[in-house]
Amino acid sequence: MSFNIAIDGPAGAGKSTIAKRAAKELQFVYVDTGAMYRAIALGILRFGANVEEEASLLDALDQIEVSIGYEGGEQQVYLNGENVSGLIRTEEVSRMASTAAAKPQVRAKLTQLQRDLAKRENVLMDGRDIGTAILPQAQLKIYLTASVHTRAMRRYKEQTERGESCSLAEIERDIEERDHRDMHRETAPLCQAEDAVLVDSSDMTIEEVVECILKLARERM
Ligand code: DC
Repeated sequence: MSFNIAIDGPAGAGKSTIAKRAAKELQFVYVDTGAMYRAIALGILRFGANVEEEASLLDALDQIEVSIGYEGGEQQVYLNGENVSGLIRTEEVSRMASTAAAKPQVRAKLTQLQRDLAKRENVLMDGRDIGTAILPQAQLKIYLTASVHTRAMRRYKEQTERGESCSLAEIERDIEERDHRDMHRETAPLCQAEDAVLVDSSDMTIEEVVECILKLARERM
């Protein structure tokens, strides 16, 4: 039987950086489910579908196929066979991913794909509803969070280091809005599974969080 680790938490808590490193150490397959929602969002944008109109959304979803693969150990996401990994991190796609992820039809499309991956391999899967809805049987569940201020500061640093001008207050507002949308949607809202271990990374380094997850995983394997 495969060993499954679920890491859920809000945007900007460091999930993907930490999950990637922990998966590498454990020699597990890392599955970034956010990238799958982003690929669907890109498909919806390309089709010009109206997500608020069921017929239009269903029509687009019928023509969208998402799959993942690995190149040099890095997850790649494909939209109808095209590698779109480099196209899904824009603000436009982020916004559409958050809107589309609230639609049950969109979530249903990815549920089976995510469960099949976890059945076949030892995976470390990160997202919002992995421990609560996708892999309720996961042997280890982590709810990784950090304060809004810490998450905003991290994003602010990243953006200023890239030479982009930005406002800390605006980033904080954006994070609060996204948290609210992810936590209050009707379908699979972001919340901590009852049996998840809460890790607050506000005052921890990346290495400390990775070590904490590795320790928990090794205790249970
Ligand atoms: O983690 P991320 O920022 O790449 O996720 C993109 C969007 O998809 C985000 O708004 C939350 C949503 N998402 C989700 O609803 N469920 C998941 N398992 C993963 C992501």
